[in-house]
Amino acid sequence: MRKNIVAGNWKMNNDLDASIELVHELILATDDIEIGNTRIIVAPTFVNLQKVREIVEGSRVEVAAQNMHQENSGAFTGEISAEMLQNIGINDVIIGHSERRAYFNETDELLAQKVSRALENNMNVIFCFGEQLEDRKSENHFKVVESQLKNGLFHLSEKKLGFVILAYEPVWAIGTGETASPEQAQEMHAFIRNLLKDKYGNEVAKNTSILYGGSVKSSNAKEIFSKPDVDGGLIGGAALKVNDFVAIIKAFS
Ligand code: PGA
Repeated sequence: MRKNIVAGNWKMNNDLDASIELVHELILATDDIEIGNTRIIVAPTFVNLQKVREIVEGSRVEVAAQNMHQENSGAFTGEISAEMLQNIGINDVIIGHSERRAYFNETDELLAQKVSRALENNMNVIFCFGEQLEDRKSENHFKVVESQLKNGLFHLSEKKLGFVILAYEPVWAIGTGETASPEQAQEMHAFIRNLLKDKYGNEVAKNTSILYGGSVKSSNAKEIFSKPDVDGGLIGGAALKVNDFVAIIKAFS
């Protein structure tokens, strides 16, 4: 059966000291909470990955990278590969975050390459996608999401898709304080699960975790996560304060 997941994307926040402090607090605060098999993941910036990964050893907190390059090595100044991440014990990577798509021109085609490379290196992928405000206003949001999934993900075999977590993040809700309503989230998640079913069959659709992201807070997490096709969240701003993040995780208690 699919897992519930709460993942914190720290983005370009938290220097080394702040990262160490936050993850220590998170480990302590989540040590004995009753949240079933819910996975807790944090994604620090590259330079702090190794340290944070060492600290979480033996705890229930896992560590993911925020991005990676599509090649394993070579003349790509400033980039980090899946091999390098694996080499320091990082097995999970976020791919396709809307900030990568918007500010670093990451296209569906490029993201498809990154996804393939990550899986080839035995990493698990958290694949992000979601429509812009104008797509929703013009009622194109289902079409946009469908094409992002078809172009970025649906080249994968059924087996490979088993290593992917989906994260639906409507761009208009990210960092804006405006959240999709639980009904809007459920409607889109059900649509996504149906696309998975059409392409890969019912078993795969049933077993794939689909997270919601975009201004999730302690005050709205429980209601959003209670929807049948929402399996957790990808959290930005609220993942930077331990109390807020833990309160969101506790939506699964
Ligand atoms: P937010 O970010 O929770 O700050 O809206 C979500 C995300 O970017 O994944």
